[in-house]
Amino acid sequence: MRTAHARVSQRATDPDAATEALANDVRFYLNQNPRQLPSKYLYDALGSALFDAICQLPWYRVTRAELALLARHAPDILGAFAPGDRLVELGPGNGAKLATLVAGGLPPKLPIEVHLVDVSDAALATAARGLTGFESLRIVTHEATYETGLLQVSREAGGERRTMVLFLGSNIGNFDPDAGVAFLRKVRSALRSGDSLLLGADLRKPEETLKLAYDDPLGLTAAFNLNLLVRLNRELDADISLEGFRHEALWNEEASRVEMHLVSRKSQRIRIPRAGVDLTLRDGERIWTESSYKYEPIQITRLLERCGFRVRSQWVDNDARFALTLAAGD
Ligand code: AVJ
Repeated sequence: MRTAHARVSQRATDPDAATEALANDVRFYLNQNPRQLPSKYLYDALGSALFDAICQLPWYRVTRAELALLARHAPDILGAFAPGDRLVELGPGNGAKLATLVAGGLPPKLPIEVHLVDVSDAALATAARGLTGFESLRIVTHEATYETGLLQVSREAGGERRTMVLFLGSNIGNFDPDAGVAFLRKVRSALRSGDSLLLGADLRKPEETLKLAYDDPLGLTAAFNLNLLVRLNRELDADISLEGFRHEALWNEEASRVEMHLVSRKSQRIRIPRAGVDLTLRDGERIWTESSYKYEPIQITRLLERCGFRVRSQWVDNDARFALTLAAGD
């Protein structure tokens, strides 16, 4: 049997609305104390390409460790999948993780639905392209926030079909603990009996290891961070000089997180016309651009249980220090 390779897409945002949302967030977060910019804005086209390159750095092992776990345990993860069942990936990146899972865990012709959820249409196009080799997949893209995408998917649920939500790449690490709990509870409430969540999370490791992963000797992570300013210049008509900032990555032991900051190299005035921003930064003042929380496997289990999940399996790479956890919604 040969199943048609269909592609349906659901679009929720228009370009003007996206710029408007960026402008509002930039105004709000730059005026917080400490000043911040949301890490989700790191992923424009160049930022996504830089992130893909970071994933190939010898010092950043998250992606390779996760791909190896997915390849090795794909049969366990997808063993019970039946025709019509659904994989929903929140933030699919370049599609490589999903492709690895499907290639290793599903019979070649098994027709299943794959739902890709991302706010970026470019990211969705890249991820969908990465899955073109799989003829039996019906790919549905949702240009939406994770929450909205999950709602769209859960509204379409029906009958016996089971859904597995994939939240990989240690994206959970970007959430502050309270926000992570709130988010995982939302995921849980979108699931029905028989559904599940596969969560990939980076683990705690020595500070020197983390420093090299987030401030690599090739300067890719610095470029990834500074590109946020390039984006503000382009999309919000700003005129921020990149020479005025440097990248900083630091380990916050108490909070168990790596923090990325853009540090002002001098006292300077920053104007971002389309966001209505006009402020002065002190020499050495930071703009906090990302948190990347690191966990122990048992903490991930407890976190999931607090959010109404039951952990079924956990696979840990103790060398790279990365965990994949499969949890049921019942
Ligand atoms: C994609 C959010 C998991 O936090 O490790 C890589 C992004 N930041 N290097 C991470 C990132 C700096 C990454 N996540």
